Amino acid sequence: MSRPPLYITTPIYYVNDRPHIGHAYTSLAADVLARWSRLAGREVYFLTGTDEHGQKVERAAQDAGEEPQAFTDRVSQAFRDLTATMGLSNDGFIRTTEPRHRAACQALWKALQARGEIYLGAYEGWYAVRDEAFYGPDELTERDGVKYAPSGAPVAWVKEPSYFFRLSNWAERLLDFYEKHPDFIQPVSRRNEVIAFVKSGLHDLSISRTSFRWGVPVPGDEAHVMYVWLDALTNYITALGYPDEKAELWRFWQSAERLHLVGKDILRFHAIYWPAFLMAAGLNPPSRVFAHGWWTNEGQKISKSLGNVIDPVALVAEFGLDPVRYFLLREVPFGQDGDFSRAALINRLNGELADALGNLANRTLSLIQRNCAGLLPPPGASEAGAAFHAGFVAPLPQRVGERLERLEFHAALEAIFEAVREANAHITREAPWALKKTDPARMALVLRELHDALRVFATLLQPVMPGTMARMLDQLGVPEGARSLAALAAPLPGGLALPAPAPLFQKIQNPA
Ligand code: ME8
Ligand code: MG
Repeated sequence: MSRPPLYITTPIYYVNDRPHIGHAYTSLAADVLARWSRLAGREVYFLTGTDEHGQKVERAAQDAGEEPQAFTDRVSQAFRDLTATMGLSNDGFIRTTEPRHRAACQALWKALQARGEIYLGAYEGWYAVRDEAFYGPDELTERDGVKYAPSGAPVAWVKEPSYFFRLSNWAERLLDFYEKHPDFIQPVSRRNEVIAFVKSGLHDLSISRTSFRWGVPVPGDEAHVMYVWLDALTNYITALGYPDEKAELWRFWQSAERLHLVGKDILRFHAIYWPAFLMAAGLNPPSRVFAHGWWTNEGQKISKSLGNVIDPVALVAEFGLDPVRYFLLREVPFGQDGDFSRAALINRLNGELADALGNLANRTLSLIQRNCAGLLPPPGASEAGAAFHAGFVAPLPQRVGERLERLEFHAALEAIFEAVREANAHITREAPWALKKTDPARMALVLRELHDALRVFATLLQPVMPGTMARMLDQLGVPEGARSLAALAAPLPGGLALPAPAPLFQKIQNPA
């Protein structure tokens, strides 16, 4: 494989509160792309973690009556536990309260300072602690005497000494960069928003605060702590060893594809501030930033005050991990907003997973058990089987790969399930259960065709449903060493003894 290695990251999540479905979603998408890339033979480093400094977290600790460090230890652990709950294959987990991260932030600060990109001044303006973001007066709306950011977060007037980053100097160079790298910001609608924002002019950015202490101290001026977004964004290079360019992982910043997955709420930070900081420090900008959409719950915004936060742990306990993973990526095009509904999840689970895929596997494998003594028929195909394969099965790995590379998870899954529907049509048309007495040779061919198709489906679905597809590949008799994309080129030998099949998915019988 000639593809460069892939460095893929999730946002590092604030530890002000427990993880919810939105956090699980971004991490899941990153996991699927990481697993897919490994399956395709690509080297991958997949990072997630927690964002633990700043006023938002400090206030949450105060509200909980805990010291910030004890509080962040506890909540960060809940995010680490979520990686296991969601079956994530992350290679690293970073916390911004780690010493290595403080060192990296301070090194980046010094690099920016040495290049004349930082100066001392005073900040006066609006700040939203909930977003940890500054807003211009023209962006705000007022209700009942309170001013709000476009995100809905209340803002407060801040006036204090502050260091600034010369962001205004970077507007032209950013626009030039976006133009030379048309895929840098995805989807394209978001790219246009960012470009319009940068064209409207950039102000220098306040990058330190003096009114609280919970942050990384500014080197040489410890009255200041670094702005939490400068601190947070740096995590992506801390984890690779920055500032040690000889670190074993640094090559993932030097010569890999560097892909950040984020929600649309934090695109501005990743697509404007972050490449500006990096270029200003003489480092590579990211290769790609993809901003996905927003989940609502049964039509309502998800929020603590509405009491409708979806707990991924409870969801997985109720429906099983793989159906939840499948649903989240199947239901809504990545990049668009989506609505979570139990009915929709149950529909996908019952209709696509249990009926279409699970039953197809079970029927095929049961017939091989019963009518072929449990031995895989030798390779071969009928005319109809060859047409089915050429149309739907053989091209599938490439179809799925192209869609996943563009982060079109729903379209990749749709392509697979189109082929699954076609396989069901094939088994219905051929009715192999009726051929045992009349045409056993044809029966064997049809079962082999279906087995070959099932192997492709299970192989391609591994990144989305790793546990269930491992069981399916076991039942199909595919050895562990033959589950990669490349391994699909070698047919399984005829006469292979297959284990007794068992159902892959449990239907939900009485939808609530
Ligand atoms: O912003 N739908 O952390 P955060 C979809 N610490 N995705 C959602 C979501 C929803 N309803 N709610 C949250 C921060 N997300 C910073 C990031 S990165 C250097 C620092 C996901 O805890 C989505 O990925 O507020 C969003 O961007 C992220 O959680 C925000 O997490
Ligand atoms: Mg947030």
